Amino acid sequence: MMKIIFKKPTNNKDVLFINVDPKNNDEVIKENGVKTLYLKCDEEMTLRKLFLLIRKMVVIAKGIKADKITFSFSSFKFNSVGISENQLAEIIGTQLDFANYEFNEYKTKTKEGFPELKEVYILGTTKEIEKNILKGDLIAKEVNKTRSLSNTPGGDMTPQILAKKAQESVRGLPVKINILGEKEMKKAGMHAILSVGRGSEEESKFIIMEYWGGNKKDKPIVLVGKGVTFDTGGINLKPSSALLGMNMDMSGGASVIHTVALVAKMKIKKNVIGLIPSVENMPSGKSYRPGDVVHSMSGKTIEILNTDAEGRVILADALTYAQKYKPEVVIDIATLTGAACVALGERASAIFTLDDELSKHFERIGEMTGDYFWRLPLWEEYENEIKGSLGDLTNIHNKDSRYGGAIYAAVFLHQFIKGTKWIHIDIAPRMTSMSGENLASGALGTPVRSLFNFIEGNN
Ligand code: BES
Ligand code: ZN
Ligand code: ZN
Repeated sequence: MMKIIFKKPTNNKDVLFINVDPKNNDEVIKENGVKTLYLKCDEEMTLRKLFLLIRKMVVIAKGIKADKITFSFSSFKFNSVGISENQLAEIIGTQLDFANYEFNEYKTKTKEGFPELKEVYILGTTKEIEKNILKGDLIAKEVNKTRSLSNTPGGDMTPQILAKKAQESVRGLPVKINILGEKEMKKAGMHAILSVGRGSEEESKFIIMEYWGGNKKDKPIVLVGKGVTFDTGGINLKPSSALLGMNMDMSGGASVIHTVALVAKMKIKKNVIGLIPSVENMPSGKSYRPGDVVHSMSGKTIEILNTDAEGRVILADALTYAQKYKPEVVIDIATLTGAACVALGERASAIFTLDDELSKHFERIGEMTGDYFWRLPLWEEYENEIKGSLGDLTNIHNKDSRYGGAIYAAVFLHQFIKGTKWIHIDIAPRMTSMSGENLASGALGTPVRSLFNFIEGNN
C-alpha cells in the first residue's frame, strides 16, 4: 500500500528524484549515486495532459523498480491548466494511486514482489494542500477497490459474492444494507430481474445500500448500478470473442458500491442510496427466451427480442424501485451497450438525460476527474422503435436494426423513470483502460470519482 509522506526522504540514494520540464526526455540519470527521472511534460499543458503526466511518472518509476520517489508539489503547477492549488493537490493524490494500481491477486508472488510505489515524498506543501492530497489518495483507493471487484473472474464473482462484497465495503460505516433474494424479489414483483437470472445456478440478488448522512427530510440521491456478474448473452449466446471481459459486466454495480462506501467514509452530509440488481446471464433449460414476455415491477410488460440485452431489463425493475425513495435525482451506471463503444470509441462514457443542466454538470465534473462523458440524444421519436407487438415494450429495436443501439437502450430505461430527474451513464466504452493511458490493463473504476464529486457538491 502506497504511503504519502510530507517531508524529505532520509536517504537520497534510496529514492528517485523527479524533475519535470518540457526539455526533458523521460530519462533516468544517476549522478553521485542519486537517481533522477527527467520527466518530459508538454510545452502547453492541459488538465487532460496533467493526468497522463503524473501517471507516466509512476509507470516509469515502477518500470525501473523504484519504490520510493520524491518531488516538489510545484513541479506539477502549470498556469495554463487553470485549476486551484487544492484541486491540483487532490488530483496528484488521486492520480498517484490510480497509476500505482495493478491487479495481482491471481498471480504467484515473485521473491522481490510486484513493482509498486511504496513511499512518495512530496515537498513544498501547506497543511491545506496536504489535506487535499490525502483526500485524493483516499478517493483513488476506493476507485482501485472498484477495479479489483470488476476484475475478479466470473467464476469467483456471483450475485451472492457481490452482495457479500457490498457488505464488506461498508463494514463499520453508518450504511444500512439489505439484500433481497429471489423469494423477496418475487414478493415485490421484480419479475424482470428474476427472468434474466433464471438461467443461472446462482441466486439473483437485489442489493440495497442506504446512507442517511444528510437531513432526514432531504430527498436522497439514488444510484443504480448494473450488476451482471457474467454476461454470456443467455440463449442469444455471445460469440467467443465477445465473451471475454464479460466478468466486468457488474462494473456499474461495483462503482455504486464503492461510491456509497466513499461517501460514508468522507462523512458527506447527504442522503445516498445504492441499488444493485445482480444476476448471472446464462443459457440453460431454465433461461428466459427470445419472444418471452416479462412482467416488470412497474406493471409494464417487456417483450424479449434478445436475451443479450439483459442489462436494461434488470435496470427496469431497479429504476422502478428507486422511485420509492422520492429521489432528488436518480443516476444509473451500466456497461449497457457495445453500441456506445461504436459511437464514442473507448474515450468517453455516454450520458443521456432530458435535463440540460445535469448533462452539463456531468461534462464539467468529467473534465475534472478524467471520467470523460459525452451526451447522446433521448428524443421521444426513438420510442416508436421499441413499441412491442406482444408486450408493451421490446428490449431492443423492434426491427432488430444495427443503428443507434446505445440510444434505444437509454430510451427503453427512460420508460421506467419518466417524471423523475434522471441521468443514465453507459460506461461500456470506459469499462477497461486503453493503451497509452498509463494505467494497468483491465477495469477502470469509472465513474466513482465523478459520482463522489457530484454528491459532494460545490461544483
Ligand atoms: N454487457 C453488454 C454490453 C457490453 C459490450 C459492455 C461490450 C461492455 C463491452 C450488454 O448486455 C449487451 O450484450 N448488449 C448488446 C445489446 C444488443 C443485443 C442489442 C450489445 O451491445 O451488443
Ligand atoms: Zn448482454
Ligand atoms: Zn450485459
